[in-house]
Amino acid sequence: MNTDFANDVIEGLSSKKKHLSSKYFYDDIGSRIFQEIMNMPEYYLTDSEFEILSLQAKQIIAAVNFDTPFNIVELGAGDGFKTFKLLEYLVNNEIEFHYVPVDISQGAMDSLTKKLKEKLPNLSIHPRVGDYFEILSKENVQTDIPSLLLFLGGNIGNYPEKEAVNLLQLFNDNMKKGDALLLGVDVKKNPIIVQNAYLDKHGITKRFNLNLLLRINKEFDGDFKVDDFDFYCHYDPISGDVKSYIVSLRNQKVALKKLDVMVDFKYDELIWTELSKKYSLEEIDVLAVQSNFKVVNHFLDCKHYFTDTLLIK
Ligand code: AVJ
Repeated sequence: MNTDFANDVIEGLSSKKKHLSSKYFYDDIGSRIFQEIMNMPEYYLTDSEFEILSLQAKQIIAAVNFDTPFNIVELGAGDGFKTFKLLEYLVNNEIEFHYVPVDISQGAMDSLTKKLKEKLPNLSIHPRVGDYFEILSKENVQTDIPSLLLFLGGNIGNYPEKEAVNLLQLFNDNMKKGDALLLGVDVKKNPIIVQNAYLDKHGITKRFNLNLLLRINKEFDGDFKVDDFDFYCHYDPISGDVKSYIVSLRNQKVALKKLDVMVDFKYDELIWTELSKKYSLEEIDVLAVQSNFKVVNHFLDCKHYFTDTLLIK
């Protein structure tokens, strides 16, 4: 049994304000539903970042300005292929570098490696499975070749601001002077665009959230009836917070047999599942200063929906 997950489920569902962490969305089924989300036209984050890496790879690499060879270390690479355009630019221009995708999922690393070896046979790829900081402290600090870290897709938005600063500071601690970090951040914009990306009319994001209950059923022998739960999310354009919730549609009891717990839900009671925070460019500058980085540039898509911000230590 996954004990971190078990403890977090027990703690989260026995709290006065129930909560479950979005980091548990990504079992095999959840990862597939997330792929569906990335394919929705309303989920602009993927298209915007793809545009940035397609059209501005040259400018990004010029701004990084490393001697060759260098490393590109992608944290949370997944099998989503988001860096393909950047890698393709480097390979086609015969710039010498090593690509080190890092992820906790062995399956994701295997399928990413396979796809990339087919599409870019000349790519030097060294996948790593495990914890970001263990891998960084072992491999990034004890080498003299410079590294560009990638933390893309807007994943930083899942952390409340203080935790985001802590995470960036931890990245910083595991970087050498002169190393760079390309950070994907979703930018504040017309609120209706954000709302439509998360409260999608296809119900895919709802399925993504409710899958967490199905995962709990599977792993802890639970009896959540997903039809008795709904999904709601809300964007606050001032704070930039998208908060996602599962809503209990009735008074109900749910047994989690393997955990030996029984959870009571009131009619309309909420489980908070996710924060997807949006930032203004000025707020990103503040994050950078607080985590001891210098901002080199914000690389934006043409609609200014998303930024890949280049930070240097
Ligand atoms: C993968 C964390 C960037 O917050 O936008 C997509 C996950 N949640 N739709 C995000 C997600 C709902 C996504 N991140």
